[in-house]
Amino acid sequence: MNLERLERAFGSLVCPSPTELRQAVASLALCPDDIASLVPQPEQLPYGRKILYLTPHVEVVLIHLPARQESIPHNHGDSFGWEWVISGTLTNVVYLPADGEDEVFRAQTTHVSAGDCYYVAPGEIHAIRNNTDGPVLSLNVYTPPLQNSRQYRAVQSPT
Ligand SMILES: [Fe+2]
Repeated sequence: MNLERLERAFGSLVCPSPTELRQAVASLALCPDDIASLVPQPEQLPYGRKILYLTPHVEVVLIHLPARQESIPHNHGDSFGWEWVISGTLTNVVYLPADGEDEVFRAQTTHVSAGDCYYVAPGEIHAIRNNTDGPVLSLNVYTPPLQNSRQYRAVQSPT
């Protein structure tokens, strides 16, 4: 993976639609070998995160979610994006607002296999989880670049 390849895929995008953004990711035709040398190790977060490419319109992030790890529930502010799984199986957990401020409860779980992608809508509250014993690598692309992301606290669902 080099900068030129990312620039070809994402450099000309201006306020892309979900479809345009998805097509740009697909055009990379990524395979695990392409990103093997770039895989970020977790530091402060439960997962490794490395920004590979950034323009005023697009942010491309490589995520490494080790076995059995999970992120904190969060949203992406006004940005939308795609999580493109390169290897492993990602579990995406969608949360809904609960009664307390910044409290959310788990509403829906989706499994995303290598080669598939998951659309994250603006404002959607979600967490990424790795339910397996192997690593998950994904390329996450957002437009506009992430700002005003917010974290939440998971509570039991209302009965
Ligand atoms: Fe996210």
